[in-house]
Amino acid sequence: DLNAPFKNAADTDWSLRHNMRWILKAVEQYRATPIEPIPVQIGGEFEHSEETKVGRDPSCPEKEAYRFSGTDADGIERALQCAADAQPAWEDLGVEERRRILKQVAVEIANARADCITATMLDGGKAAPEADAEVSEAIDFADYYADSLSDEAFFDGTSCKALGTIVVTPPWNFPFAIPCGGVLAALMAGNSVILKPASEAVLSSWQMVQLLWKAGIPKKVLQFVMCADRSSGQKLLTDERCSGVILTGGYPTARMFQGWKPEMKLFAETSGKNALIITSAADPDQAVKDLVKSAFGHAGQKCSAASLAIIEADLYDSPGFMRQLRDAAASLKVGPSSDPASIVTPVIHEPDEDLSRAQTTLDDKENWLLEPKMVDGNPCLWSPGIKKDVAPDSWYRRTECFGPVLGLVRAANLEHAIRIQNDSDFGLTGGIHTLDAREIEIWRDRVEVGNAYINRSITGAIVQRQPFGGWKQSVFGPGAKAGGPNYVSLLADWTQDALPQ
Ligand code: ALA
Repeated sequence: DLNAPFKNAADTDWSLRHNMRWILKAVEQYRATPIEPIPVQIGGEFEHSEETKVGRDPSCPEKEAYRFSGTDADGIERALQCAADAQPAWEDLGVEERRRILKQVAVEIANARADCITATMLDGGKAAPEADAEVSEAIDFADYYADSLSDEAFFDGTSCKALGTIVVTPPWNFPFAIPCGGVLAALMAGNSVILKPASEAVLSSWQMVQLLWKAGIPKKVLQFVMCADRSSGQKLLTDERCSGVILTGGYPTARMFQGWKPEMKLFAETSGKNALIITSAADPDQAVKDLVKSAFGHAGQKCSAASLAIIEADLYDSPGFMRQLRDAAASLKVGPSSDPASIVTPVIHEPDEDLSRAQTTLDDKENWLLEPKMVDGNPCLWSPGIKKDVAPDSWYRRTECFGPVLGLVRAANLEHAIRIQNDSDFGLTGGIHTLDAREIEIWRDRVEVGNAYINRSITGAIVQRQPFGGWKQSVFGPGAKAGGPNYVSLLADWTQDALPQ
């Protein structure tokens, strides 16, 4: 129903046994079928390169899961020209027709839910509920962005022009929802799009993009490329026909892109070092549940993940609370993403220098509440780690480590906790657990993050309800929030028509 008011898509209810059986069967079927090599799509044609790269499943990283093609500077040149040529007709289709197509995208994704979940479990290495939430978010982006522009806007003397061609460069940690959101927002505003997925998770984006074409987005308006080398990637982003770049990635990557072309219109959501405050007035059961989910969901590999808990002294010094937290983390099932019961799944690569240091080294007074261990001999699979007595000025407290490690900081009181939380170069997500309304009020006025959560986990922003975006070095560019009312408008130029003389 095109006129139904926006409603968030429901996640799958994993407490129902038949849903678990449904996904288990889908995973088995998916894994039993050989995955065809993934081409690039330029100018409406699928192209396979002679040399291909390997996509891996982090649950068994030694095995090749699939192969994908790349394109060189010549392919990028053709893609840019095709995007420039195809864009005006797409914009001329008008808001209503683009809206209709985006609504159909939501339907196609919902109909292919099992395939979308299984692809994201395989190359993103996600647990079933995490992959499922991505699919719901992608449906929400389609439904919500479809309604984000209306023709009414054009009767008040304001005109809206698409920017031109937008290049979307998503991350590997949300390989389904984030590219889907970026692509659809840019398309809704009338732009053509070139999607370049993260090389670690091409399969999920490939699954997604095929559904968008099926829904009616012309192939020339939405092309799909992987770059064979760095110079072709640089050409894609810096060419004058590229009117803007949507990036979700690290802050250094955003700076590098901007360094390549200082006038680049860059819409970037970048790094985080996020903390959840738990005061003595919190409901400890709820706080532990939400903290563990925020810290160890998708093995902590979310820009939004809690990597610090700042806990008020009384609770911090309570052996009962600490035991509860340790047991909650220790009881999470650590396993491959192919097992739908796994909660903590593998990290995408073997731990890099920072994650490895966080998992193996204690600074000064730090000690393990729960020491992380490698599981099943898989260098990518790690059980949760919790460090106690992390100092506010320590290495761990300042470094985004992107893995299943949580640090605990002791705060004298709420005032002290807020100071520690705000003393960061980043400002992506943050939360507080307290049942004291006065504490909530104080915190809400002072916290310096883009997404501030009260008595809830600090990951898993919901489209429309919690538009997602950062502050400080967690954002680069104008900073409108994904899944919020201004995001599509930001991808267009708005001008006030000249008044008649
Ligand atoms: N949008 C993702 C979240 O909120 C990153 O966790």
